[in-house]
Amino acid sequence: MRSTTFFASILFVARWALAIDLNLDDPESIKRAARTAADGMMQWYDGNKTGGIPGLLPGPFYWWEAGAMFGSLIDYWYYTGDTSYNDVVTEALLFQVGADVDYMPANQSKSLGNDDQAFWGLSALTAAETNFPNPPAGQPQWLALAQAVFNTQKVRWDETSCAGGLKWQIFTFNNGYNYKNSISNGCFMNMAARLAMYTGNTSYNEWADRAWEWSRSVGLVSDTYLVYDGTDDNLDCKELNHLQWSYNSGVYLMAAATMWNITEGATRDQWQTRTQGLLNATKQIFFYPNGTMQETACEGSHNCNIDQQTFKAYLSRWMAASTKVAPWTKDTIMPLLASSAEAAAKSCTGGDDGVTCGTSWTGGWDGAFGVGQQMNALEVFQSNLISTARGPVGNSTGGTSQGDPNAGSDSGSTPITYASSHQQSPPSANLEVVLTFERYNAITTGDRAGAGILTAIVLIGLVGGGYWIVT
Ligand SMILES: *[C@@H]1O[C@H](CO)[C@@H](O)[C@H](O)[C@H]1NC(C)=O
Ligand SMILES: *[C@@H]1O[C@H](CO)[C@@H](O)[C@H](O)[C@H]1NC(C)=O
Ligand SMILES: *[C@@H]1O[C@H](CO)[C@@H](O)[C@H](O)[C@H]1NC(C)=O
Ligand SMILES: *[C@@H]1O[C@H](CO)[C@@H](O)[C@H](O)[C@H]1NC(C)=O
Ligand SMILES: *[C@@H]1O[C@H](CO)[C@@H](O)[C@H](O)[C@H]1NC(C)=O
Ligand SMILES: *[C@@H]1O[C@H](CO)[C@@H](O)[C@H](O)[C@H]1NC(C)=O
Ligand SMILES: *[C@@H]1O[C@H](CO)[C@@H](O)[C@H](O)[C@H]1NC(C)=O
Repeated sequence: MRSTTFFASILFVARWALAIDLNLDDPESIKRAARTAADGMMQWYDGNKTGGIPGLLPGPFYWWEAGAMFGSLIDYWYYTGDTSYNDVVTEALLFQVGADVDYMPANQSKSLGNDDQAFWGLSALTAAETNFPNPPAGQPQWLALAQAVFNTQKVRWDETSCAGGLKWQIFTFNNGYNYKNSISNGCFMNMAARLAMYTGNTSYNEWADRAWEWSRSVGLVSDTYLVYDGTDDNLDCKELNHLQWSYNSGVYLMAAATMWNITEGATRDQWQTRTQGLLNATKQIFFYPNGTMQETACEGSHNCNIDQQTFKAYLSRWMAASTKVAPWTKDTIMPLLASSAEAAAKSCTGGDDGVTCGTSWTGGWDGAFGVGQQMNALEVFQSNLISTARGPVGNSTGGTSQGDPNAGSDSGSTPITYASSHQQSPPSANLEVVLTFERYNAITTGDRAGAGILTAIVLIGLVGGGYWIVT
């Protein structure tokens, strides 16, 4: 009896001690917390095991999420100097480039929107900016991969409706082809701004400007810098889906901050106002008054889908990166990342390992788990090391990645078939959630006008691509 009780209490203590202990004043403590979250995340990955396919996560995690995950591991190396995952990251990023070397593998076409492709391209771009070890000569190089993604998207800029913008989807056979959305246009702008900064080639600036002006013109970015999810190009982008997701705000925030960095004079002043406005709105919408980050549209109602469960990772990532290019944002951003990291650590007490992280950061573990929860915690922990990290390099400031301004121009030479992966819907607005949110909204705020607009959008979705809802 005695020994059993004794044993049980040892186990209890051991388990208790496993909760993530985070001291933000101690870089080593932050690194340990990041390592714990990263290890938990990589438990899901079997792409480097016998029979596994490098770069893919098992269902229900979509192809794009894997691309984002490898980006979080490049960040991990950048912040901590720990090279443990580097080989597995390089293998995955090179394996998934596809036949045209532009992150459009034919057998992922069913889940391949502009945003999905962009998340892989952004990971390659981060690798270039951080001087992540270059692939061997003869292999695709980080900068050229990012340029390939940018170049293939540039030619998809679509003036046939809404006076411009990128559609969400690349292929007509995918649902959402008529949706022009913030994450696709925001990622495109983000890549353009960062490529401008890396290469010093001003033709990228023009594209960043164009993407921004267009997003403002249709109201995806509002006069008060709220970022709405998307709009239907069958209606000439006259109606908006007003859902707000943290990654949409984050992706424009970092793009605007980068534009501030590389412009001058009155143009720079404009970018300062925009960056500040986006930051204000981000703080207002995606943080509780006590500074804890939340995925506002789905977290309170426990309705975040697999994709949405990852968005706080990118908001954390892009807020931290913004402080490097627009240092005056630091005073606002750093306290938010600190309070959120502390709150996140408190959520990481779940699972068999006792350090599994949850979705919501408002208390202890909430019972949720997955790649997204681990990635959110990883990115928010390590972003607290940003002041000790080097800023992004460019080709005249120590960057060593080999570029190719014409990369991706062969795209389309490999026929895309209606090939199936295990996945279906890409990461943007999910109408199932729109419906849920509409109900939630109507009940909690009585905002029937807002609900009416959402209903209209849902009906458009039903007519335009009812498949979204039915499947
Ligand atoms: C796969 O990568 C992980 C790092 O995430 C490593 O710990 C593991 O040993 C690798 N597995 C194989 C079979 O190489
Ligand atoms: C996709 O294609 C690659 C390269 O041809 C192949 O190695 C991989 O097994 C395929 N993946 C799936 C999920 O079919
Ligand atoms: C940087 O890249 C730009 C554009 O590709 C090129 O014109 C310039 O010569 C490069 N500078 C250096 C130092 O490599
Ligand atoms: C600058 O970028 C544009 C757009 O990608 C490209 O067409 C052009 O060749 C680049 N110029 C240089 C000097 O690299
Ligand atoms: C951002 O918020 C600050 C403080 O609340 C305010 O002074 C400023 O005018 C706001 N800026 C913009 C561009 O919204
Ligand atoms: C922060 O505020 C949220 C919402 O009121 C609350 O649920 C959470 O427990 C608070 N967190 C802390 C650390 O006080
Ligand atoms: C622009 O960003 C670089 C890279 O982080 C940084 O070194 C530089 O100080 C920034 N410029 C300004 C004016 O803050």
